[in-house]
Amino acid sequence: MKYVLGIDLGTSGTKTVLFDQNGKGIASATVEYPMYQPQNGWAEQNPADWYNAAVSTIHTVLEKSGVSGEDVVSMGISGQMHGLVMLDERNEVIRPSIIWCDQRTAKECEEITEKVGYDNLIRITANPALTGFTLSKLIWVRNHEPENYARCRHILLPKDYVRFMLTGDYATEVSDASGMQMLDVPNRCWSTELLGILDIDPALLPKVYESCEVTGHISAAAAGLTGLSEKTLVVGGAGDNAAAAVGTGVVEDGKVFTTIGTSGVVFAHTDKLAIDPKGRVHTFCCAVPGAWHVMGVTQAAGLSLKWFRDQFCGAESITAAAMGVDVYELTNQEAAQSPIGANKLLYAPYLMGERTPHLDSDCRGMFIGLSAMHQRRDLLRAVMEGVTYSLKDCLSVLAEMGVAPETMLACGGGGKSPLWRQMLADVMQCPVATTVNTEGPALGVAILASVGAGLYGSVREACHQMIRVNPPQNPIQENVPKYAAVYQVYRKLYQANRELFKELGAL
Ligand code: XUL
Repeated sequence: MKYVLGIDLGTSGTKTVLFDQNGKGIASATVEYPMYQPQNGWAEQNPADWYNAAVSTIHTVLEKSGVSGEDVVSMGISGQMHGLVMLDERNEVIRPSIIWCDQRTAKECEEITEKVGYDNLIRITANPALTGFTLSKLIWVRNHEPENYARCRHILLPKDYVRFMLTGDYATEVSDASGMQMLDVPNRCWSTELLGILDIDPALLPKVYESCEVTGHISAAAAGLTGLSEKTLVVGGAGDNAAAAVGTGVVEDGKVFTTIGTSGVVFAHTDKLAIDPKGRVHTFCCAVPGAWHVMGVTQAAGLSLKWFRDQFCGAESITAAAMGVDVYELTNQEAAQSPIGANKLLYAPYLMGERTPHLDSDCRGMFIGLSAMHQRRDLLRAVMEGVTYSLKDCLSVLAEMGVAPETMLACGGGGKSPLWRQMLADVMQCPVATTVNTEGPALGVAILASVGAGLYGSVREACHQMIRVNPPQNPIQENVPKYAAVYQVYRKLYQANRELFKELGAL
């Protein structure tokens, strides 16, 4: 039997899963790490945490499973997108990584749009300038920390930094590179035109591959640390959403998934390039060679619930630890005791600004309608509903572009909650299913790894062989109008508060 390894480098932690060549999970391990917020709206992580987590989780899954590194033919890494890792001439990390949900770069986005031109930017990168994307972060460092910019010799994305540490190769692949905003997305290569206009040295950038192509193999040093073999191949891998698409079989036109991880995403595959002229959803290359995807992003989806858990659910955390269960099982039970609409309490999940559909780095989260009758269960339910309404906003924009899913696949930590999936089905008015193997992004990159190693002929063929879907949860008809009424109020929250967010931000 041959084995493939999938590493999912997320925002709250890194999860590594060992699969056999049929896609069966053999062993998994997770290591968590912190996100630092030195100022309101800023978000940074330490690249060493990602690398250490990758090494220790690889080591653990090999040890747990008893599988020899020699039998792991190939591996792939899925990563949180957009984070900026800068290396100096000795390959030392220059500063903490400014990650995807950081919002400090509104001025740099204006600078990019002014220099490149809005239409030109859309033509080349398929997206407007966004605070989340890597380019504005790089220009922020050039504007605010010129000494760090001058020392920089290589720019890498989070997962590509871990690849570099494991293989010694400076490489990336099209799905994650799309989110750097320096890629010519229609043509799947770096844009010399854009780099020229913005005076960025192309030598800073890694080589771009397709997601299932082999970019190298494990170095002797990394083999020693992890237990893998020097013969273990490493494929391009994918940004976390493109990887989740492969892991849920969303690799053909008409297929859609939603994920509730730290961020929330509604993602549709497209064989033809499709761009929202208003820039509310992103168009990126996907992990199927020659195809793209469009996706809407809720900045703080699982992050909203995690924030609430960390701040207000100390008692549940202690009880969960004593019972040996996940604290989210208890918060789900509590939220289920509150009725639809959470007793007239609304939550908007803009903790880290928002992308879809509002593209606003200044907006922030809110509870609206708090009453002395509300209990924690209502707040928990309002958080879960607010995130669901925000994902409905994402689907609405995709619907304007002609996306009409028959069934929606759900993944990510939030997708594991039957309560949350039912909310999704009722609010989106669409059956919501899960895959039998719920490892999403980790399975996705393991599938890419198996294609790279020649175990399967194509990504689609591998998905057909390795992915099974569970029966869906259908909308409960009596719930649909109840949620629809609350959603109508939710939709007005942003516009009603837009100016206040700006005033607050300027204080
Ligand atoms: C996508 C995005 C997030 C991150 C973190 O554009 O920013 O989904 O990849 O998960």
